[in-house]
Amino acid sequence: MPKHIARLLAILGAALALTVIARFFLVPDSFYQFGHYRANSVVEIAAREPAFQGAAYCEGCHAERHAEWSGNNHKSVACETCHGAAKGHPDNGKLPIPADTVALCTLCHEAMPGRPKTQPQVVVAEHAGDQQCKTCHNSHAPKIAAVAAKVTGDAVVGQKLAVADCASCHGAKGISPNDTWPSLAGQNAAYLVRIMSAYKSGAQEDVIMTPLAKALGDEDIRNLAVYYAGLSCVDRSAAAPSGADVEAGKVLAKNCAACHGETGIGTNPAWPNFAGQKADYLVNVLKAFRGGIRKDPTMASVVRGLSDADINSLAAYYAAQSCQPRKK
Ligand code: HEC
Ligand code: HEC
Ligand code: HEC
Ligand code: HEC
Ligand code: HEC
Ligand code: HEC
Repeated sequence: MPKHIARLLAILGAALALTVIARFFLVPDSFYQFGHYRANSVVEIAAREPAFQGAAYCEGCHAERHAEWSGNNHKSVACETCHGAAKGHPDNGKLPIPADTVALCTLCHEAMPGRPKTQPQVVVAEHAGDQQCKTCHNSHAPKIAAVAAKVTGDAVVGQKLAVADCASCHGAKGISPNDTWPSLAGQNAAYLVRIMSAYKSGAQEDVIMTPLAKALGDEDIRNLAVYYAGLSCVDRSAAAPSGADVEAGKVLAKNCAACHGETGIGTNPAWPNFAGQKADYLVNVLKAFRGGIRKDPTMASVVRGLSDADINSLAAYYAAQSCQPRKK
């Protein structure tokens, strides 16, 4: 064999031997176990302490938020999907609160052709314009009750009941004689049914109204609602609560206009109108929402940041508005 061929073979043999040795030295045992080049990292990752703690972890310290969340449609979206991994929280500081809810919510809810129909989706420009989603939706309890069905009842029968049982407090014509009791004249019938049913079922409690509503049948409630909805409200220049600033209330009310209209007359008949409502009643109601005594997840999230002065101003502003729907 010529010498140069033998040398070439020797070099090839040495290279082969080196490759084989290197393969066993450099490639971890786990190479074929977990796939291409993952090697032992899988074991290392699995051995790490989990960064995500799960929703049950939050319950003890953020009970209110957890209760809202678990009672509504977002209970299938883990807290940490929106707030980030909670490992080390609260010792290492607060978790971030997503500021841009349009960016956050459109991740899952922007209408797109490939998205399964079961995932609720909206065309953002039509649905929200340039408003933040949190203007109307509580991130933890996002579902907003849709428009209720039309209420049918007998106003004459309703009137008899009202004169007997309700007029002493809500007035003979639905205008309350007392500043802390609500007027009912001209209120949306669907809302009246909803709220009276809530008193009846115990979903909302009030020392006076709960026992009264429990004594009413479903038909009584519909008749009363139709009767009160048909009464005309009377414009009064209501006395503003002390410390109230109507102008400040007008500015604050812009945050409420998406649902309640500019003056307290909204578009959804399942929701209350309160233009011209009694000011002290509005103050009590807003404080009840803020304190969690009156439970509505949508309202709870919008009143959370209001001070007592803000509440007085809002109540004074709405009480001073004309109670008839404004003609355009
Ligand atoms: C051991 C109690 C505890 C647990 C468990 C806990 N938190 Fe907190 N969290 C706190 C405290 C304390 C703060 C700081 C409150 C403050 O300073 O206003 C906080 C703040 C936050 C904030 C910021 C609130 C703000 O007003 O700035 C968010 C968001 C938050 N937590 C989310 C979560 C989530 C999500 C979980 C579950 C994965 C969780 N937390 C679990 C105690 C806890
Ligand atoms: C769909 C996303 C999403 C999920 C899921 C979610 N949050 Fe939030 N969270 C938000 C947003 C957005 C805000 C800011 C709210 C606002 O400004 O209206 C917020 C605010 C908070 C705050 C700040 C204080 C406050 O109440 O304003 C806390 C605390 C909090 N969330 C805890 C939780 C906990 C605990 C869970 C799970 C039980 C949870 N969040 C689930 C999006 C989410
Ligand atoms: C990680 C994905 C995800 C994010 C982010 C998210 N959602 Fe959701 N959302 C869901 C899922 C899943 C449901 C539950 C659908 C169901 O009930 O089957 C839901 C339900 C809803 C519903 C109720 C729909 C209905 O009528 O049934 C509304 C409204 C809503 N989300 C609004 C929001 C808003 C506002 C935000 C931003 C603060 C947001 N979502 C962020 C996944 C998400
Ligand atoms: C002006 C108030 C308002 C704003 C702002 C708003 N929404 Fe809504 N959204 C509503 C109301 C009211 C409903 C329920 C009535 C209905 O079914 O149309 C609703 C329903 C939804 C639903 C359920 C739709 C379905 O088909 O079940 C989703 C999802 C949703 N919104 C997501 C969003 C997202 C994401 C944003 C931010 C980009 C947003 N919304 C901003 C008022 C608003
Ligand atoms: C996303 C829609 C939405 C926004 C925004 C909103 N509200 Fe409401 N509001 C509601 C709904 C729904 C109810 C009915 C709750 C119930 O039936 O218990 C309600 C009820 C009320 C009531 C009770 C009226 C009565 O006759 O008992 C008052 C007062 C009120 N809202 C004031 C406000 C103020 C002030 C703001 C702004 C700071 C505001 N709301 C923002 C949806 C909204
Ligand atoms: C002893 C006085 C009293 C009598 C009698 C009374 N109410 Fe009331 N009503 C109240 C008070 C006080 C409230 C406010 C409760 C609250 O803040 O939750 C109220 C609230 C209401 C509301 C909720 C209004 C709103 O805007 O949310 C309705 C509806 C109502 N009453 C209907 C009736 C009907 C129908 C009757 C007769 C069967 C009746 N009430 C009898 C004192 C009375």
